[in-house]
Amino acid sequence: MRISHLRVNHWKDPLGVDLRHPSFSWVVSDTLSRHQQKARLRVYQAGECLYDTGISSEPDSLGTELPLKLLPRTAYRWQVKVWGDGGDTAEAEASFETGKMEEPWQAKWIKPGEKRNAVLEKRFLLPDAPLSGRIYLTGLGLYRLFINGEPVSGEVLTPGLNAYDRWVQVQTFDVGGLLRKGENLLEIWLSGGISRGRFSYTPADGYEYCPYDCAIAELHAVTASGETLILTDESWRWRASPIVESSIYDGEVWDFGREPQGGEVQLCTPPVGPLRDRLSLPVKVVMELKPRSVLTTPAGETVLDMGQNMVGWLRFRAKGQRGRILRLQFGEQLERGCFSRANLRTAKARFEWRCDGSERIAEPYFTWFGFRYVLLEGFDGPIDPEDFTGCVVSSELEETGRIVTGHEGLNRLMENIRWSQRGNFLDVPTDCPQRDEREGWTGDAQVFADAACYNMDCAPFFAKYMADMLEEQEKAGGCVPYVVPFARSRSKGFEGGAVGWGDAAAVIPWTLWLHYGDRSLLRRQLPNMTAWMEWTASQKDWPSACRHFGDWLALDRPEEPAERVGKTDIRFLCLCYAFLTAECTAKAAAVLGESGTEQRAVLLAESYERKLKEAFFTPEGEILCRTQTACVLALHLGIAVNREKTLGTLLELLRESGHLTTGFLGTPWLLAELPPGKAWDLMLREDCPSWLYEVRLGATTIWERWNSLTEEGLFSETGMNSLNHYAYGSVASWLYGHMCGIRPLPEAPGFRRFRWQPLPDRRVGNTHCRLIAPVGEIVSQWRYGDEGISLSLTVPFGSEAEGILPDGRRRLLGPGEHHFLVRDMESKEDREDAP
Ligand code: BGC
Repeated sequence: MRISHLRVNHWKDPLGVDLRHPSFSWVVSDTLSRHQQKARLRVYQAGECLYDTGISSEPDSLGTELPLKLLPRTAYRWQVKVWGDGGDTAEAEASFETGKMEEPWQAKWIKPGEKRNAVLEKRFLLPDAPLSGRIYLTGLGLYRLFINGEPVSGEVLTPGLNAYDRWVQVQTFDVGGLLRKGENLLEIWLSGGISRGRFSYTPADGYEYCPYDCAIAELHAVTASGETLILTDESWRWRASPIVESSIYDGEVWDFGREPQGGEVQLCTPPVGPLRDRLSLPVKVVMELKPRSVLTTPAGETVLDMGQNMVGWLRFRAKGQRGRILRLQFGEQLERGCFSRANLRTAKARFEWRCDGSERIAEPYFTWFGFRYVLLEGFDGPIDPEDFTGCVVSSELEETGRIVTGHEGLNRLMENIRWSQRGNFLDVPTDCPQRDEREGWTGDAQVFADAACYNMDCAPFFAKYMADMLEEQEKAGGCVPYVVPFARSRSKGFEGGAVGWGDAAAVIPWTLWLHYGDRSLLRRQLPNMTAWMEWTASQKDWPSACRHFGDWLALDRPEEPAERVGKTDIRFLCLCYAFLTAECTAKAAAVLGESGTEQRAVLLAESYERKLKEAFFTPEGEILCRTQTACVLALHLGIAVNREKTLGTLLELLRESGHLTTGFLGTPWLLAELPPGKAWDLMLREDCPSWLYEVRLGATTIWERWNSLTEEGLFSETGMNSLNHYAYGSVASWLYGHMCGIRPLPEAPGFRRFRWQPLPDRRVGNTHCRLIAPVGEIVSQWRYGDEGISLSLTVPFGSEAEGILPDGRRRLLGPGEHHFLVRDMESKEDREDAP
């Protein structure tokens, strides 16, 4: 038996993370035992046992909450021992260390006057070689910390992007290895980020959260002679950094040739919320890519092709005589062979480097770009691609799911979804990474959450997003803004409350519960759910009270191609989503034993269902809202008066239009509601609109629109058209949950019990799916052979599967490997009248 994946609040050995509600989890593998019989958790501080659960059947590997009284800035170890029902046992241990928690700060906020993009610095002496060192700090808008010229940790875009008016995240770093005996230098580089400068609708000279850059830091260095404390205060100095301009949308301009400038710092009190230990996962350069080629376009441009639409920036060797300007512009597409950034709207998305004669490694610090192509200007001589490195930037998420089929297009689609998730899960689940937007659109996050949780371990990522959402909801009486964090400049006419967008407050927590089965997360997020449910219930006329986006980008209004909201009646969508939110809230409240909330939510759900049935179905059960999305929602939510009739209408609508027409809200559940043969036919189509159309056109990420590019590879429109937008990647839910058949079940979430109902199809050939679920590794696969299809499933320790085979056989499958042979019976009848 082996115990691995020891996590506290889903973090590995967390340092300085908000641990007010610590929850411990682990995974057992490599054992002939099938279930945990008993377990024991112990927590130690300085060798002393602080807490012991005793040997008990209680501890839950998906999340065991312990009532610990943790101290600030303190290191702990924890140990878990598990006894299996087969008589074997294993033990493992890990660590965690608290940040400043509620401890008052001795340091003071400082700023470089009104100077922008400055470096705050402090020289200090250490009497001896350090034994250990910790720094607790934050800076606004964004900061990078260096000690003795070395970057402290690989994190970028610190302190993270969140609602600074409500709270500011503090990072804790282990800096013992960077300090030395004698003189040391601490440098904090600052820039505007989303706090100040151009973001959302703020002009370049305006601000969202704080009009100036500032920082606060406490360094605790322990040497043989005791502790040295270095605090930000009046004794610090600032100097101008080489960054002349920096903005998330517009990129950066660096110039080393400027006159040196500097002075004394000022104390300040930024107009932001309290300092709290971080929730944001580290954002890092998670991968490096070399350009695939250097192109000379028909327009004579020199363009690097990264071979992949990616998010981040380029690092390169910059050389040139004083005054020369090297300019890089970032774009997603070549149009007619030439560099195009037509879809970036007002984002300048460029990096400019003014040379001073010396050779340096250049890269931007406080911005990011979404690009595949880079237009180079000002570079001397032939370009050597080896001089350039694509730095792929993302929140550090563990990849948990992978599907490999015998179908190249489908494999590429899965890769594209992963790339769009990687690039847009950048502390905030952003809609897109390239144009003047890059915000945490709630609707996009909601429709993609289930797919996202299959691909990667998203528990800590969404925990931070939901905490921020709750802060925003508290400001808005329970309403959910369109984007989280909610930039102030958006507020006029953009307050929020959109159907399917605000419902992120209920859908994401329920999705996390299904995938991770961690009660402590659900408990922290029930307030999101109830606040949103009550806000919608309190609206006299929700459909007309807010600006809604409807079934965004649906194709069911061909007569009005500029209309983005789709044809599905907003009143129908409001009732459907109010019902869904109330249902999720009722189930979550039941799990948590909150019976008052549960009863209230059940009553609301019943009343919405009644209203839906009265207003949108004939007494004979015909659905009155005749769109593909309306049918899909009615079927998925189980509110269709007559399922067969609604399915019939859906099939009829598919036939009439000849293709799918669903937008953001209908797409995630479309395939799951169709008979398998029909679902497969839609899945494998390669004409527009379909998932594989973009794959056929060479896409390496998911497009915002079904028709983002024309067959000729030109932008179909440029006003709102990103080539890296994960929303339609929601189809990954079907690929994992239906094609490979692995679906979590609410009665035993976290895949303690799951459905296994694979849908093999000869056209995709042999298929292998591996999912590192919170209970352990699940493998679902099939191979085509002479005798039929051999299917197999691996069920991890402590888990069981409700298997439903393609031939209808049902089996309850315990831990271990299971093999089945079924006849290859492709559903011909289903196929014949496919749309
Ligand atoms: C974003 C979307 C978002 C939408 C709201 C767009 O500009 O890119 O993904 O959900 O606005 O309708």
